[in-house]
Amino acid sequence: MSRRPVIAGNWKMYKTQADTRQFFAAFKPLVAHSRHCDIIIAPPFTALSVAVEAAAGTPIAIAAQNAHWAREGAFTGEISMPMLVEAGCRGVIIGHSERRQYFGETDESVNRKLGAALHAGLTPIICVGELAAERDANLTHAVLKRQFEGGLHALTDADFSRILLAYEPIWAIGTGRTATPEIAAAVHRFLRELAAKQFSPECASALRILYGGSVKPDNIKGLMAQEEIDGALVGGASLDAKSFAAIVNF
Ligand code: 13P
Repeated sequence: MSRRPVIAGNWKMYKTQADTRQFFAAFKPLVAHSRHCDIIIAPPFTALSVAVEAAAGTPIAIAAQNAHWAREGAFTGEISMPMLVEAGCRGVIIGHSERRQYFGETDESVNRKLGAALHAGLTPIICVGELAAERDANLTHAVLKRQFEGGLHALTDADFSRILLAYEPIWAIGTGRTATPEIAAAVHRFLRELAAKQFSPECASALRILYGGSVKPDNIKGLMAQEEIDGALVGGASLDAKSFAAIVNF
C-alpha cells in the first residue's frame, strides 16, 4: 500500500512572531512545487496566527504542540482544541516525549486529548517512544505497546484512520544520535502490528507512521527509503527554512 509522505516540523519553544514571518518568507518559495508530501509546521502558541496567515493559500498545514482535553473551563494556562481550530490550526501534536518527561503527560491524558482533538476536527499527531535505558533493557516493545494501547484505547476505526503516529525514540531526540533507518523501520513494523490487533487490517496498513529524532537533510533520504517510514517529525532542523525545505524535498 502506498501511503502519502508527511514531513512535519515541531518548533518546540522557539521562534517569535517576527522569526515566524521571516521563516515563512524564506521557506515558501523553496517548497512552492513540493506536492509529493503533506507539510505540517507546529509553532508555539503565540506564533500560530502569524503562521496561519503566512501559510494561507499554500498546502502547508499549521498544527499546535499541545492542548487541553476540555472544551473550556477554569484551567489557567491551558488552550482548548476548539480554540486551536478557531486560530486556523489543522492538527495538534499529542504526547510528545518532552511533555511526558517534564509536564506530567500520561497515556491517560494522551487518550483524553486524542478524543478531544478528533471531536474538534483536528488531525492528532500522537507521539510514542522509549528511553535509552528502556531500549538497553530490551523494553522497547513493552513500552510502545503500553503507550499505544493506553493512548489509543476506545477509538473506532473511523477515528483511527484520522491520526498520524510518530515514533520518537527519546535517545535520538536532539542528541544527533538518529536511529538507523533499519532500527526505525523495525519499530514502525511493530507499531503497525499493534494497530492491526486493535483496528481493521485496512486501517492498520493505511496508518502513516512518522519517525522523529535528529532528522536532518543528510539522513532523510535513507529514512524515507524504508517502506515502513512514512514521514518525519523534525525538531531542530525544522527551525531553518533551508534545512527544513531540504528535508521536505528529500
Ligand atoms: P530533533 O529533530 O531536534 O531531534 O527533535 C525531534 C523531536 O522531538 C520532534 O518532535
